[in-house]
Amino acid sequence: MPETRPFVYVTRRLPGDALERLAAAADVGVWPERLPPPPEAIVHHAAEADALVTMLTDRVDRALLDGCPRLRVVANVAVGYDNLDVGELTRRRIPAGNTPGVLTETTAELAFALILAASRRLLEAERAIRRGQWVTWEPEFLLGHDLAGATLGIVGFGKIGAALARRAHAFDMRVLAWTRHPKDVAGVEWVGFEDLLRRSDVVSVHCALTAETRALIDQRALELMKPTAVLVNTARGPIVDQAALAGALRRRRIFAAGLDVTEEEPIPLDDPLLSLDNCIVLPHIGSATVATRAKMAGLAADNALAALRGERLPHCVNPEVYDAGG
Ligand code: DGY
Repeated sequence: MPETRPFVYVTRRLPGDALERLAAAADVGVWPERLPPPPEAIVHHAAEADALVTMLTDRVDRALLDGCPRLRVVANVAVGYDNLDVGELTRRRIPAGNTPGVLTETTAELAFALILAASRRLLEAERAIRRGQWVTWEPEFLLGHDLAGATLGIVGFGKIGAALARRAHAFDMRVLAWTRHPKDVAGVEWVGFEDLLRRSDVVSVHCALTAETRALIDQRALELMKPTAVLVNTARGPIVDQAALAGALRRRRIFAAGLDVTEEEPIPLDDPLLSLDNCIVLPHIGSATVATRAKMAGLAADNALAALRGERLPHCVNPEVYDAGG
């Protein structure tokens, strides 16, 4: 009897050699289009799949899992996994994987780029040239704020927050941080959330999106920030109340914002934030370098392949599936 090969469904083409590595061990189906597959299409293509490799744009919920009853693993090509119903996966004893570590420096670099760009008004300055508004050198044209000597407040101090702190120290910034599990880190002062908002010149968001952190940066939080402060978010859009942020930026209640993530992605073109000169919005490119995206795809493949071999996922977000004897 010829041995049947497992089937892996991948919801987008991937960079690097991840697809070849999967194909060496399994039959592989790949959604070929630029836009993500609708849930019905995933169920249609992955109905017989043993492994599902997902992107952060795919919602893996009860309905999808009902339609893919053979799944032995869901491997997300992201470190964040708020798109997965982890409780439901765990209930079904399906391990779920993510891609921690490999995008830490890349995402911290983008956060720092946003800090620099928003503080020094880089995009506004570039637009001014294109609009013919650069008529001469002027003492008061496009004044921003210095980073040297300023205070950075890091909300959520995981790997990316720590990598950002290293960059901030190199720019002679003071670093405050707020997190649920503070640990001793040289040059980092642990403070309460409100204290961080009041004292920081730059607030950068690096926590996961959970029920507790949804709209953590709301109207009240924005009111606590300095009028000269910059807000940066490279984590997940819904952590910031976007309507409140647009209001605060319009009233110059804070100085500027740099967002790599938004409540709705892509951000609708009529969103008020896009009409504000003091707001930079990027299309969720925090981890978008050639090397990092290949590593992320590679880790997702490692997770899927481990499960197909009957082994523990190297990066499992619900390890309790193993404790439960699953
Ligand atoms: C992640 O991995 O969660 C990032 O948001 C992708 O850039």
